Amino acid sequence: MPAALAPGSVVAVIGAGAMGAGIAQLAALHGHRVQLHDTRFGAAEQAKQGIAAALEKEVARGRLEAGAAAAALARIATLVTLPDACLASLVIEAIVEDLAAKRELLAQLADFVAPDCVLASNTSSLSITALAAGIRHPERVVGMHFFNPAPLLPLVEVVTGLATSPQVADRVFHTAAAWGKTPVHAASTPGFIVNRCARPFYAEALRLYTERAADPATIDAVMREAGGFRMGPFELMDLIGHDVNFAVTRSVWEAFFHDPRFAPSVAQQELVAAGFLGRKSGRGFYDYAPTAVRPPPRSEPAQPLPPRVVVHGAPGAAAALPQRMAAGGVAVEEGLPESRFLGPVLHVGGREGGVWLAPTDGRTATMRAVAAGVRDVVVFDLALDYATATRLAVARADTCSDEALALAVGALRAAGIAASRFDDVPALAVMRTVAMLANEAADAVVQGVAGPVAVDLALQKGVAYPRGPLAWADALGVAAVRDVLVHLAGHYGEDRYRLSPLIARRAATGGRLHG
Ligand code: NAI
Repeated sequence: MPAALAPGSVVAVIGAGAMGAGIAQLAALHGHRVQLHDTRFGAAEQAKQGIAAALEKEVARGRLEAGAAAAALARIATLVTLPDACLASLVIEAIVEDLAAKRELLAQLADFVAPDCVLASNTSSLSITALAAGIRHPERVVGMHFFNPAPLLPLVEVVTGLATSPQVADRVFHTAAAWGKTPVHAASTPGFIVNRCARPFYAEALRLYTERAADPATIDAVMREAGGFRMGPFELMDLIGHDVNFAVTRSVWEAFFHDPRFAPSVAQQELVAAGFLGRKSGRGFYDYAPTAVRPPPRSEPAQPLPPRVVVHGAPGAAAALPQRMAAGGVAVEEGLPESRFLGPVLHVGGREGGVWLAPTDGRTATMRAVAAGVRDVVVFDLALDYATATRLAVARADTCSDEALALAVGALRAAGIAASRFDDVPALAVMRTVAMLANEAADAVVQGVAGPVAVDLALQKGVAYPRGPLAWADALGVAAVRDVLVHLAGHYGEDRYRLSPLIARRAATGGRLHG
């Protein structure tokens, strides 16, 4: 079986909804004769008109030659009956997300397509193994999971069920690559790579919201400005739609037999129950009425420059912070190589007293203060890049005075960083999210869903994370990520934060998650 599908060969797309139309457009643009079929009367024709309009837009934007657009459109035929797809070399089904409906369709197709015709499903949640069961030649049933909108988003998960032949998976992989996509191989397991490994991005934010750690606008701003994520979790859930996002979480949770790792959020269930589905219904976490004003993130009020900062220990990635404070006019001095915090810490000195400003290690500021035997402790969150972050989440210990907090805020302000104060929750927002993303990604690797390179690539291309979670954990040090997770598990006492065996092993040996 040759690697990629030959250009000019027939690709049948069954189901002409949002996904089917996008996939048909893509296949036609890459030289295939496309046959589009939908059981709903007029749906395939309507999809073709939609494709024509989309191609016209591409031409108007100068991204496509008018001739190429016309040729692609001419290659798309709509089919009235399914058996007309008998000459297809590849069938991609994008019908309703229902196991019985998809199995029935595949069984019908198997009756009249050639035995070597690849039967691909765009399912985002169903088992490819289950879809293939009972189908004649189940080795040619494979997942070809595009992301919405299919013509634009680069990732395609090529999903292998128990019966899928490696040659078929390879053929789909190379075909997706020939269509300009970034394919990754994944084993058929709940959520495949992205819909599984991205769950903590939403779940940890919902947990912070439930605990009233900060309001959505503030958490979103921290995730963007410190975490480097393109969108914050609440604005992203509002965009996806809470009904859809909740359903995906629920289906992954159920598919893993109610593993608390994936437990859905009661707060999100309430939004769905209320019909507050996000942008599409005019209200979600935010209000989308035409007159509505988006609430700004909360920042601590500006404070005067503190006279002095002493750096104890080696702050690693956070070394840019004291440098930025110095550039902002604070006298920065080197302190002891070790501190009683057993980790790097900045001591921000005032005229009297001072405050210990520490990067989060997964414990609350209060626990840090108790462990170190001091009162005035402020912890700050992880940043993707401390040299450029414009905002950081901070939390103060219950014992920390207002004056001490003001010193910490003043030092960050000198560095050009707005401080968003959270309640004293462990691992704040960015750190807990990155640690849990890495933990889930590590479990996906351990369980053979995909290798570390594919998992990181999928999350960067599928949900546009600024860094693959496994590479991010490697950069932080796997032991540091382990400690954060252990502290989270200790704080909440929940199995949800249990350590991936891969993180435990690599942390123990000082190894990396990327081989
Ligand atoms: P959609 O509801 O927009 O389109 C589904 C189409 O399939 C409808 O036009 C319907 O009339 C047609 N259909 C239903 N049963 C059929 C049958 N037996 N034979 C022929 N046509 C039939 O749904 P959408 O969003 O395009 O999703 C389709 C598939 O793609 C689902 O499996 C979904 O899980 C998956 N998917 C959806 C994504 C999304 O963001 N919408 C992303 C990735 C995958």
